[in-house]
Amino acid sequence: MDFYVATLFPEQVSDYINTSITGRAIAKGAISLHCIQIRDYAPNNYGRVDDTIYGGGTGMMIRPEPVYGAYEKAVELAGHKPYTVFMSPKGNVLNEAKAKELAQRKDLLIICGHYEGIDERVIREITDEEISIGDYVLTGGETGAIVLIDAVSRLVDGVLPNEEAYTNESHTDGVLEAPQYTKPPVWKEMEVPEVLKNGNDALIKDYNRAAALYDTWKNRPDMLDKLDLTEEDWKKVLAFKKGL
Ligand SMILES: C[S@@+](CC[C@H](N)C(=O)[O-])C[C@H]1O[C@@H](n2cnc3c(N)ncnc32)[C@H](O)[C@@H]1O
Repeated sequence: MDFYVATLFPEQVSDYINTSITGRAIAKGAISLHCIQIRDYAPNNYGRVDDTIYGGGTGMMIRPEPVYGAYEKAVELAGHKPYTVFMSPKGNVLNEAKAKELAQRKDLLIICGHYEGIDERVIREITDEEISIGDYVLTGGETGAIVLIDAVSRLVDGVLPNEEAYTNESHTDGVLEAPQYTKPPVWKEMEVPEVLKNGNDALIKDYNRAAALYDTWKNRPDMLDKLDLTEEDWKKVLAFKKGL
């Protein structure tokens, strides 16, 4: 999958994405990252891209022309218009279902705002969707773009070692992941649950389901409202709670 990012701070995005798992995915060719510097398309020869806001708002706003120039560059590089998203606190809040949907695409162009944001006309002209990473305000869209690329690219074939690595996670099937443990078997007098060490796959599966439902009930009861839990499931949660 090819990611194009239009930004005033390309190194902020590329430094992160070129590191660790996403960096290895780029090296293997499973994903690619092309950052496009919005300033290169400034409508003047001194590189200024922002201006004051009509109506008297405080701060500065990115003008439409340089963002449109960066968009045209992405279209030229891709050979077509990539699905274009604007990172914005006003957008649809990113979740795993949205990440899955975007991971089906061949490419994605992510527009990053900065300062007070980007002139509304260019957003209307080029974007297919606005995406927020949560109900808070960031200083720029770059951190949002990093989160989006990270969440989407781990669902792209070839990025993680095997599909199981991302089909058993929190949020993949509407519940949080069960607590997991590694060596040593006892640490600070706390033991790894016996059932996880006995190699009985059916018992382990049952235990993990109850532990996952319990954690979801404890940490994110709102998620359980969206699931059609059976009486059997609820019995498992209660039995698990008793056993703690
Ligand atoms: C300071 S913010 C502008 C906020 C804007 N004036 C508003 O109140 O909606 C600058 C840029 O950061 C990015 N940004 C801020 N919060 C975000 C969020 N929650 N999710 C994604 N991007 C965000 C957007 O690209 C935005 O244009």
